Amino acid sequence: MCGIVGILGQTPVAGTIYEALKRLEYRGYDSSGVATLEDGRLTRLRARGKLVNLEKCLRETTLAGTSGIGHTRWATHGVPNETNAHPHFCGPVAVVHNGIIENFRELREEFEAQGCHFETDTDTETVAQIIALAMKDGKTPLEAVREMLGRVRGAFALGILFSGEEDLLIGARNGPPLAVGYGKGEMYLGSDAIALAPLTNSLSYLEDGDWVVMSRESVRFFDENHDEVTRPVTQTSQSAIHIDKGNYRHFMVKEIFEQPEVISHTLANYINPLDGKISIPDLDLDWNGLNRITISACGTAYIAGLVGKYWLEELAQINVDIDVASEFRYRKAPMPQDALALFISQSGETADTLAGLRHCRGHGLKIASIVNVAESTIARESDFTLPTRAGVEVGVASTKAFTCQLGVLACLAIEAGRERGVLDEARVETLLRALETLPGHIHEILRQDAQIEEIAKSLTKSRNILYLGRGTSFPIALEGALKLKEISYIHAEGYAAGELKHGPIALIDEEMPVIVVAPDDALYEKTLSNMQEVAARGGKIILISNARRCDQNANNVWSCIEIPDADTFINPILAALPVQLLAYHTAVHMGTDVDQPRNLAKSVTVE
Ligand code: M6R
Repeated sequence: MCGIVGILGQTPVAGTIYEALKRLEYRGYDSSGVATLEDGRLTRLRARGKLVNLEKCLRETTLAGTSGIGHTRWATHGVPNETNAHPHFCGPVAVVHNGIIENFRELREEFEAQGCHFETDTDTETVAQIIALAMKDGKTPLEAVREMLGRVRGAFALGILFSGEEDLLIGARNGPPLAVGYGKGEMYLGSDAIALAPLTNSLSYLEDGDWVVMSRESVRFFDENHDEVTRPVTQTSQSAIHIDKGNYRHFMVKEIFEQPEVISHTLANYINPLDGKISIPDLDLDWNGLNRITISACGTAYIAGLVGKYWLEELAQINVDIDVASEFRYRKAPMPQDALALFISQSGETADTLAGLRHCRGHGLKIASIVNVAESTIARESDFTLPTRAGVEVGVASTKAFTCQLGVLACLAIEAGRERGVLDEARVETLLRALETLPGHIHEILRQDAQIEEIAKSLTKSRNILYLGRGTSFPIALEGALKLKEISYIHAEGYAAGELKHGPIALIDEEMPVIVVAPDDALYEKTLSNMQEVAARGGKIILISNARRCDQNANNVWSCIEIPDADTFINPILAALPVQLLAYHTAVHMGTDVDQPRNLAKSVTVE
């Protein structure tokens, strides 16, 4: 899940490549590099750590070339140091790579046996070695790349430059996305439209197995059989507008505070503002012919899917299977043809989710996806796309995309329930009106930010934190724990409240904060009993519930965060806000890098 950029330009390109890499930093930020061709010679600058370190190098040393490639890395093979940073050079070849070359060990052993010297611990260097060796044998750059493509296995998006070839840039894709951008007398290559947005809106996406040979005036696409093909030129809607934090300290908190607005944009896509009726554009399904929905996703998107399962099963009386995408396709589950496969992804590029989609496609299932990036691979490969309108999400910790995913799943469940005759018009009306109250209720919760920050301060000394919930609050407990651990590095676990007594209760002591998500719904009394089990063992309870329940428990709990009284249907969306703010403020007070936490990347394009 690295970011790659390539430019054949008219003026020196290193600065432009750096700017494009900044827009790709969400893909990885443990090292970066740029290479350009100066008088036919390859020169590069690389730096360990975040992109600002590369910027310092670029200020000190000029790279004057008008052809170049750049990379921002999320390490898979080899520690994140300068040597392992891309671009990798071998003879006349420079390579940037996103993905994993799965057979790199055997290739490396083979080349080492032939006397080749490897400089790095990366899988990527084998790509450069194969091409360089083929060129040494007299092959042209195109022939050498073709030979390399026949030898490597795995997932890759590649950008390749050659010394002495000022007007040549080759790209290749197998898995991770890659796009070609068209400029005036210039040509661009990039991991996504966002990277290229300030340069051009005209793009062609490589299909899996494609490779592309670019000059400043021409582009030739080849498919996996090396037959020349055409790929359509599309106009991207990605805006070149600079994405900044505004008055906020971090993107994450900005995105948390954007939720009233983006949830209403998202719902407006599914609830007609004129008549207030639900309509799911582009979803042409026979709901009564469906017997099962199979949901797959990763991380926070998986947790959204889990809430969706509760809603779809209750409101539409349809069976729902749900898996983390990395397990789904290896489970070898039966694939009944009367099932809909539903994939959820903010980025639309997550490798595991995409692999699950292709697995279902291979079994002939109908495919729907809930995605935030409209032009992403998952969106493009789905039969039906249900967009979230969260806008660009920069913080690695997903917040606004999550609540928007829940908004879409809620609409989907209502529509399915109506079509399947489970919900009558009056109930549909009640549920839709409940969804429309979300922006106002979310505002109310955000007004408690300062109070939640005070509570968060008390969590910073904890080594372990437990989150409990039942029904649709169980996924919110999982989400609270995931959010907290990814940005504060405190170990946290989300548990179904009823499971407490089957193991985790052994962890409870006076040191252990337990965050209980227990809105005032049909399951409240049950969760209350579990909360009392914690209280009896001295656990430090933070209760997330409605005002009435907070008042009743004032003496039992250490602290309370109120959510507004609303239709219980929307409680999981409301309860998501306090757990996001708790994680955010805890991390800020611990001084971690909130928007770019260690070891993570926003878009995970490796399996
Ligand atoms: O782009 P996706 O929604 O497919 O990403 C899935 C996960 O990688 C993502 O939700 C991850 O868990 C977040 N960092 C959680 O905050």
